[in-house]
Amino acid sequence: METFEWDGSIALGIASIDEQHKALFGWINSLNDAIRNGEGSEAVGNVISNLITYVTEHFNEEERMMLSCSYPGLPAHRNEHDKFVSRLQEIQVDFIDGHELGNNMLEFLVDWLVRHIKGTDQGYNQFIRHQQKS
Ligand SMILES: [Fe+2]
Repeated sequence: METFEWDGSIALGIASIDEQHKALFGWINSLNDAIRNGEGSEAVGNVISNLITYVTEHFNEEERMMLSCSYPGLPAHRNEHDKFVSRLQEIQVDFIDGHELGNNMLEFLVDWLVRHIKGTDQGYNQFIRHQQKS
């Protein structure tokens, strides 16, 4: 997979969240590098664990933010987060079972995140902006 570069087209304009999104793509790129450079299963496994930890913390923070502003879309948004974490955990289990992780999996992660940020995350972003105006 080509290295994915975060750019302004997927910025929300909330500095802390944008930084976390950049870091998420950074972890996916690290996973891509570890696989491509044949860094070995321990190194790749560590990157997967770190990615899952980081994703979980980031989602928790978004959910806390949505809760604090009483965003009505929180349950559906949380559901998407939970499904993505479950998918990552399946990928981890597959990897531990000896399956090779390929480009399809990496592209799925990037595509999911880009779509989620542009669509679902924009939902709370617009809600918060609207709230701040009124
Ligand atoms: Fe989100």
